[in-house]
Amino acid sequence: MGARIGIIGAGQVGAAAGYLLSAMPGISDIVLVDTNPARAAGEAADIAHAAAFGTSARVVEGSYADLAGAAVVVITAGASLQPGQTRLQLLHQNLHIMDGILAQVLKAAPDTVLLFATNPVDVMPAIAVQRFGVAPGRAIGTGCTLDSIRFRDRLAQHLDVAPASIHAYVLGEHGDSSVVHWSNALIAGMPVLEFAVQRGRPIDAALQQQMEHDVRTAAYRIKAGKGVSNFGIGGCIARLVKAMVEDESSIHPVSTFMPQLLGVANTCVSLPHVISSRGASAPLMPQLDAAETVALRASAATLAAVIDDGLK
Ligand code: LAC
Repeated sequence: MGARIGIIGAGQVGAAAGYLLSAMPGISDIVLVDTNPARAAGEAADIAHAAAFGTSARVVEGSYADLAGAAVVVITAGASLQPGQTRLQLLHQNLHIMDGILAQVLKAAPDTVLLFATNPVDVMPAIAVQRFGVAPGRAIGTGCTLDSIRFRDRLAQHLDVAPASIHAYVLGEHGDSSVVHWSNALIAGMPVLEFAVQRGRPIDAALQQQMEHDVRTAAYRIKAGKGVSNFGIGGCIARLVKAMVEDESSIHPVSTFMPQLLGVANTCVSLPHVISSRGASAPLMPQLDAAETVALRASAATLAAVIDDGLK
């Protein structure tokens, strides 16, 4: 018997995640829960019709009660970024629905692992921990998983090398105060900047800044072009659920609630965590240079202030 996965929100992010998860070994059923049951039923049927091409999980529209026994419940519901808006500005709009969602999810599946994609994604694990007493390792924000993929993709384009061969993270806020972790980005066992020189495609300070800008603004460009970003975040959700369903103990830059980080109290930012069937480990602190340490502390302080505002 495979795992049950719940997805709250059958919008474009939830549907993308549901489709990718439906093809994943080890998952037997996916329950789509939405305030619009007809939309959830439509997405479930449409995803199920892809089964002819090899997907295997049973995908259904359901109620919160149908989440019983879910190994992971993915929360994607809420408003998404509008032009000119930052993710943090979605706080109050999305927080007021989050209390209701969490109360119903935890009533049906008290032992599940919560995986948040709803923005501001780094606030949501703090709400689950502080308001609902969820253990920090079982309230996970997708965080900078997506930013890290965007960073690797940008480096891969410039260096003409496969993203899978690039070991690089973005840390901190999934948003404008994110920290691109250049100082320990590695390719072929060497620092990225050294690899770039050997590759004949050097990366100078100006290009580093441009790449950071490209990573931080990717979501805004995608939304300007197609109105929503859903496949990148859907892929991150599927990758993290796979790590839990298959008990991988693989490392991912997700966000969890941290009582203190670099002197900042009650924050939630992305750092490397070990992801397994039990959820997320305690955060791991990689080696940072002085500027990255200052930037991560500033990002943690930004989130701490937003969390404090959200918990009022
Ligand atoms: C993005 C959304 C998921 O970065 O925050 O595309």
